[in-house]
Amino acid sequence: MGKGLFITFEGGEGAGKSTQIRLLAGRLRDYARELVTTREPGGTELAERLRDVILSGRAKKFGPLGEAVLFSAARIDHIDRLIAPALARGAVVLCDRFADSTRAYQGARGDVDEKVMAALENAAVANCRPDLTFILDIPPEIGLERARARRGADNADRFEGENLAFHWLLRERFLTIARADPERCRVIDADRPQDAVAASIWEAMAEKFRRREHEAVEGVS
Ligand code: TYD
Repeated sequence: MGKGLFITFEGGEGAGKSTQIRLLAGRLRDYARELVTTREPGGTELAERLRDVILSGRAKKFGPLGEAVLFSAARIDHIDRLIAPALARGAVVLCDRFADSTRAYQGARGDVDEKVMAALENAAVANCRPDLTFILDIPPEIGLERARARRGADNADRFEGENLAFHWLLRERFLTIARADPERCRVIDADRPQDAVAASIWEAMAEKFRRREHEAVEGVS
């Protein structure tokens, strides 16, 4: 898709994705001709409105498939209006969550047919697939504690409020996604100081850039 580079960040609650996106964006400014940072659900006006509906819990009664449909609708707008045009211009796009979050969160309990989930993903994402996905892995107890500390007195949102068993299933789902697609996914141990996490991410980025250059020289598409 386009000439740019599409990088997504995934993981459970409180894994530190937004901090790592900020740190990576800071380092990439010298390398990328254009840098776009965005998030899901959200990134466009329409998708941000859907975000409010979903994260407030108002759509919970639709069940996991209904919520997956709403996340996908938000994603379609996000891709059409923001991600695909940016990649076509040659931008590096850093996105906080993407389709793997739907697979993991809405698929965590296994109550939606995998084939239906895959068809929904293909319909929404088409060929706008990430070039590289960082899966920030952290034991759920630690991530949830960080998320709790971050939000202070505010209520837990729709998914943070799920029980611990759900968050363990979620972690397993993300690791399964990474195992199934090792070309695209890098699992990063996020239970470390943020500089160490950032160093691992930078290492994988540098490798990606090297590979891209090599492919350009060799004429590999
Ligand atoms: P956010 O505040 O961005 O959480 P975080 O900081 O953990 O990324 O809220 C996004 C929430 O929505 C998060 O709990 C994960 C969930 N989510 C899904 O369940 N499915 C999806 O497809 C996406 C994109 C997010």
